[in-house]
Amino acid sequence: MPLDQNQLKQAAAEAAIAYIPDDAIVGVGTGSTANYFIDALAKIKGRISGAVSSSEASVARLKSHGIAVFDLNSIDRLPVYVDGADEINRQLQMIKGGGAALTREKIVAAVAEQFICIADETKLVDVLGRFPLPVEVIPMARSHVARELVRLGGHPAYREGVVTDNGNIILDVHGLQIAEPAKFESELNQIVGVVTCGVFARRRADVLLLGTQAGVKTFK
Ligand code: A5P
Repeated sequence: MPLDQNQLKQAAAEAAIAYIPDDAIVGVGTGSTANYFIDALAKIKGRISGAVSSSEASVARLKSHGIAVFDLNSIDRLPVYVDGADEINRQLQMIKGGGAALTREKIVAAVAEQFICIADETKLVDVLGRFPLPVEVIPMARSHVARELVRLGGHPAYREGVVTDNGNIILDVHGLQIAEPAKFESELNQIVGVVTCGVFARRRADVLLLGTQAGVKTFK
């Protein structure tokens, strides 16, 4: 019987445990695949020092398992960050932010020495952009940023009822085909009022653990 999507996410998440060094503080992402990783991490909590997290939701889950959560500013180094993605290509560039945690995810990813992406096989794409690109925006800049995104060829939609952990709003940009992710990421970052865009190309993943029907495949 084929595995369902959640089983593929769980398999990828559990495979990431092999990348966790002893005594490490572990960077932990956000979302349903990251939740499976947190649950797997709980089983080896005796051999890690704790975690830093990219969202309040993951902080709560880590603490519910009795895993110590550190402030990113209080640690010296972060050997590894494990997180999911909304889309990932074969260059290991990603779209992230479906869970609205993209800014903290990008910060933790920037600090980490190694970024392990965990995903099920539906997330692997040839060209990024089918998943609407999340952009975190300062609330007063919403209309300005939306007009600029239209100028760049996108169709932004305000994510109703969502306020990020940083007090900002999310625009989801539809209709994109992101041929040059690093260039596009830089262009979006130039728009005044954009806090973070969900293109992770300049800091891409180092390893992808992809849950497939044929087992967990590793891409580097
Ligand atoms: C959170 O903001 C996102 O970047 C997640 O990593 C992404 O939405 C993946 O979510 P799932 O693991 O739930 O598919």
